Amino acid sequence: MHAGQLGMDCRYCHNTVEKAGFAAIPPTQTCMNCHAHIRTTSERLAPVRDSYATGKSIDWVKVHDLADYVYFNHSAHLAKGVGCVSCHGRIDKMDVVHNDQPLTMGWCLECHRAPEKHLRPRDQITNMTWDPLAETGKTQLQLGLELKKQYNIHDSAYMTSCSTCHR
Ligand code: HEC
Ligand code: HEC
Ligand code: HEC
Ligand code: HEC
Ligand code: HEC
Repeated sequence: MHAGQLGMDCRYCHNTVEKAGFAAIPPTQTCMNCHAHIRTTSERLAPVRDSYATGKSIDWVKVHDLADYVYFNHSAHLAKGVGCVSCHGRIDKMDVVHNDQPLTMGWCLECHRAPEKHLRPRDQITNMTWDPLAETGKTQLQLGLELKKQYNIHDSAYMTSCSTCHR
């Protein structure tokens, strides 16, 4: 809802995602920046207020969880113009976040073999509705191939080598 109707940028809450491998789940304080003033009596916000009062963080359920033998890094993707929506789907339309994509090895490899199908300008990585044709007059494939060169994306031998993801 915050990313949807309210149009908040993902990075307001997941503020480590461009710098770190891990996309931080926001601390209660982030919620309280607004909810100290907005909807202060809402039932649905009771856990947030409790957490703030007691200093105990909220136990969010982790939806995405790769096996430990897989190396994944958010910043490596975002720096090369892969948008959140390519991997997480339309988060702005989800009431409860669910796995939009299978997160299997085959899924990773499909993109690593042909990343041009997904590359976009870096300033559009959190945009859920970005449309290459409308914004640039180029098809995704044309634009993707240009960006692949511009961003110096590794060749597909490197991208699909076992040690890229299993280190
Ligand atoms: C108002 C703060 C806020 C904003 C804005 C926000 N998120 Fe989140 N997000 C959360 C919180 C809190 C959780 C953990 C609770 C949950 O799963 O609902 C979460 C969970 C997630 C998860 C699931 C994490 C897991 O458990 O694997 C993904 C993926 C995600 N957000 C992506 C996004 C994307 C993409 C955007 C922008 C389109 C976004 N979020 C905007 C607060 C936010
Ligand atoms: C930038 C301001 C802002 C931040 C930060 C923010 N929210 Fe909100 N939130 C809102 C607004 C505005 C609404 C009311 C939307 C409406 O009126 O429909 C809302 C509504 C909600 C609601 C629904 C309340 C109800 O009564 O139905 C929940 C739950 C909620 N927020 C949880 C969170 C959580 C959890 C966080 C921290 C991860 C968070 N919010 C961070 C602005 C914010
Ligand atoms: C290339 C695919 C990809 C992109 C792009 C991507 N994510 Fe993720 N995201 C993942 C995977 C895979 C996981 C599970 C990581 C794990 O379990 O170690 C994940 C996990 C998360 C989590 C849970 C916390 C964590 O790090 O495990 C959040 C929150 C999240 N992503 C938010 C975002 C946001 C916001 C963006 C865009 C700014 C984004 N992601 C872009 C694939 C991606
Ligand atoms: C939608 C496309 C896409 C998906 C899905 C995707 N990746 Fe990537 N990945 C990329 C791109 C593009 C790069 C940047 C390559 C470069 O910098 O040359 C990258 C880079 C990486 C890197 C850093 C490589 C390096 O040494 O610089 C790792 C590790 C990685 N991906 C692992 C994964 C894993 C694991 C998954 C599945 C859970 C995954 N990726 C899913 C597109 C994707
Ligand atoms: C782009 C990233 C990526 C590359 C490249 C990659 N893997 Fe994987 N691999 C994964 C992910 C993600 C999983 C976890 C899948 C899951 O949890 O379902 C995985 C799982 C595995 C597993 C466990 C499978 C199982 O069924 O339990 C093995 C074995 C494996 N990979 C071997 C390899 C070998 C050998 C190569 C090189 C030929 C390779 N991988 C290349 C991402 C990758």
